[in-house]
Amino acid sequence: MVGRSPSPVDLAGTSGVVRATVHDAEGIHRLVNFWAAQGQMLPRTLGETYENLRDFFVVREGEEVVACGALHITWADLAEVKSLAVREDRQSRGYGRAIVEACHEEGRALGLASLFALTYRPQFFERLGWRLADVMTLPRKVWNECYRCPKFPGCDEIALVIDLRDGAAG
Ligand SMILES: CC(C)(COP(=O)(O)OP(=O)(O)OC[C@H]1O[C@@H](n2cnc3c(N)ncnc32)[C@H](O)[C@@H]1OP(=O)(O)O)[C@@H](O)C(=O)NCCC(=O)NCCS
Repeated sequence: MVGRSPSPVDLAGTSGVVRATVHDAEGIHRLVNFWAAQGQMLPRTLGETYENLRDFFVVREGEEVVACGALHITWADLAEVKSLAVREDRQSRGYGRAIVEACHEEGRALGLASLFALTYRPQFFERLGWRLADVMTLPRKVWNECYRCPKFPGCDEIALVIDLRDGAAG
């Protein structure tokens, strides 16, 4: 990471970054599909949201999910940060960063070597110490979901990775 230090994250008035429960599934589903409808990420069904619920972190205000993101294990050394979404009127408060940093911590605790993401927001991830990657260098298994993406095979998402072993990730 270069340039100025990251701004402090103020999660006061929220739950902080916590693991999702079944009560969050509809809120996660709404948030992800709000951004999916704008072409910013892949849509998710409510069923998929429940099936992958244990991957998710959320930030709640009261009962409401205002930010979410998931860490999904791909293989022994790799996991994906996905379904990262912050409510439109809660952007730029550090919620996205707090969730990605929780994924870094979880990835390390799980013994993962690195994380990847496919995104239209590469600068957000770069700000958090990630680096651009050639998607073709990622294992073929990461293409698992691509086949059902409306954009397939014309993917224009940008791949980024972070090495969790080099101590750079916060
Ligand atoms: C991308 C997204 C998750 C960022 O969440 P956020 O809570 O608004 O971002 P944060 O406040 O945590 O920002 C963290 C840092 O990234 C920077 N940043 C945030 N969005 C950025 C962007 N689009 N471009 C460049 N930098 C960005 C912030 O300035 C901040 O830097 P700082 O720490 O130096 O102040 C959010 O904008 C979002 O939900 N977007 C729509 C869905 C989406 O694109 N998801 C990503 C799919 S993987």
